[in-house]
Amino acid sequence: MFINKVPNDFIRQFDMLPHPEGGWYKENYRSKETIASSCLPEEFNGTRNFSTAIYFLLENGNFSSFHRIKSDEVWHFYAGGPLEIFILHNNGQLEVMTLGSDLSAGELFQQVVPANVWFASKPKQGVVFSLVGCTVSPGFDFEDFEMAQRDELIHQFPQHQDIIKRLTRQ
Ligand code: GUN
Repeated sequence: MFINKVPNDFIRQFDMLPHPEGGWYKENYRSKETIASSCLPEEFNGTRNFSTAIYFLLENGNFSSFHRIKSDEVWHFYAGGPLEIFILHNNGQLEVMTLGSDLSAGELFQQVVPANVWFASKPKQGVVFSLVGCTVSPGFDFEDFEMAQRDELIHQFPQHQDIIKRLTRQ
């Protein structure tokens, strides 16, 4: 099973690439069918695939920086330890969701990050790595992806500056 796997085994096996937000990813599915921009909400500026899915891996000490995308993103837990997802809702509320397999501790196999909110993630303290999946529809496009600027995010959410400083790079 997965018990003896280390992060590099997955990175090699799935041929993962470094992700601009941090961590490693491999796009494992991109639907062949596409949807025209005229059929999408106006914030999408081009044709998109119906759906995409990636594997995503974060190692201890690494994190996915605050960013946002234009679609809801469904996160799936696969292996390693729990991953914390930090969501800055537009009303100023910080929500922390934990993706993992210990249901009695409040972790869930699936978590949903709503479209157009700033969010970041990191393996929970003491966790060696988290291997998870992310699916979106319409399919992912870097045109729909925006990395947060630390100063701008702190300006918008001064009450959450500690977590913003920890989980941004620029
Ligand atoms: N493909 C490349 N990067 C991403 C991402 O951050 N999320 C999803 N769902 N797909 C991606």
